[in-house]
Amino acid sequence: MKQSLSKIASNQELLLGVHLMWIDDPGIAAAARAGQFVTLRCEGLILRRPFAIHQVKPRQVAILFKAVGEGTHWLSQRGKGERVDVLGPLGNGFNIGADSSNLLLLAGGIGIAPLVLLAQQASVQHRVTLIHGASAGTQVYPVASLRGNEEHLLPFADRVRFIEVTEDGSKGHKGLVSDIVTDFLDWADQVYACGPVDMYRAMSQLATACGAAGGDKLRKCQVSLEVRMGCGIGACRGCTVITGRGPRRVCSDGPIFELDDILWNQVRL
Ligand SMILES: Cc1cc2nc3c(=O)[nH]c(=O)nc-3n(C[C@H](O)[C@H](O)[C@H](O)COP(=O)(O)OP(=O)(O)OC[C@H]3O[C@@H](n4cnc5c(N)ncnc54)[C@H](O)[C@@H]3O)c2cc1C
Ligand code: FES
Repeated sequence: MKQSLSKIASNQELLLGVHLMWIDDPGIAAAARAGQFVTLRCEGLILRRPFAIHQVKPRQVAILFKAVGEGTHWLSQRGKGERVDVLGPLGNGFNIGADSSNLLLLAGGIGIAPLVLLAQQASVQHRVTLIHGASAGTQVYPVASLRGNEEHLLPFADRVRFIEVTEDGSKGHKGLVSDIVTDFLDWADQVYACGPVDMYRAMSQLATACGAAGGDKLRKCQVSLEVRMGCGIGACRGCTVITGRGPRRVCSDGPIFELDDILWNQVRL
């Protein structure tokens, strides 16, 4: 873990209200694993704001963030060459089992952020299916630009199968990620997810409803929990969630947990 005042290499609005920011930070870039996060200080705010590590280059790290409040609006206004106070990498990353070949990645909305890095890193040795669910086609991750090797985006291996799902049906399948996930469970050796708590609750219910093998894969799904945080380094206990093995701090024990570890009816955001 390292704190530094790092230079912004670029900050572009990738989708409406969603920004991709590349930051020059060789230390974090060298240490980062998919599923870990960084915290950024935002002017005028006491608490640092957490963001998943979205992509990594040899000397740079990227975050993908949605402007939802004071901190993220301030970040969205920052320009190339300005400096931001970054701390990371924090938390634990996703794990891939030694005998897994086929990985199913489920993203809900801005939950795509850590899963792009997982897909990029894992696709070197594994087959990856990444399903992105969004409210509308305009909010679906522009994966074609990754494949097109644009300046600010890393290439996405062709062996990553990308499936679009939109609530309004304007792109890809109409509905929610949880509507189609069971179609892929036979294929998948392991499942990973990042999205809103409602998506995780729906997956929990599906795990109970579908057959033993598929249900077990969903129960063991590694999910990234995005609760509100205080310190981000395990000191304040402000991010505690109740698991089957007792209270756990999302920032230092997570943010990755197995789906069936979390007592979802007790999660408050
Ligand atoms: C481990 C982790 C990784 C995250 N990764 C990303 C990421 O990659 N991209 C991204 O856009 N966001 C991510 N978030 C959420 C992000 O931290 C919040 O959106 C951000 O802190 C909001 O700050 P703000 O000052 O703009 O909003 P605030 O003014 O603090 O709040 C504005 C609104 O956002 C909601 N909100 C605030 N914090 C969270 C949160 N943690 N989760 C859900 N809703 C929240 C509030 O309830 C409120 O409605 C992550 C959170 C965690 C804990
Ligand atoms: S945010 Fe302080 S312990 Fe997790």
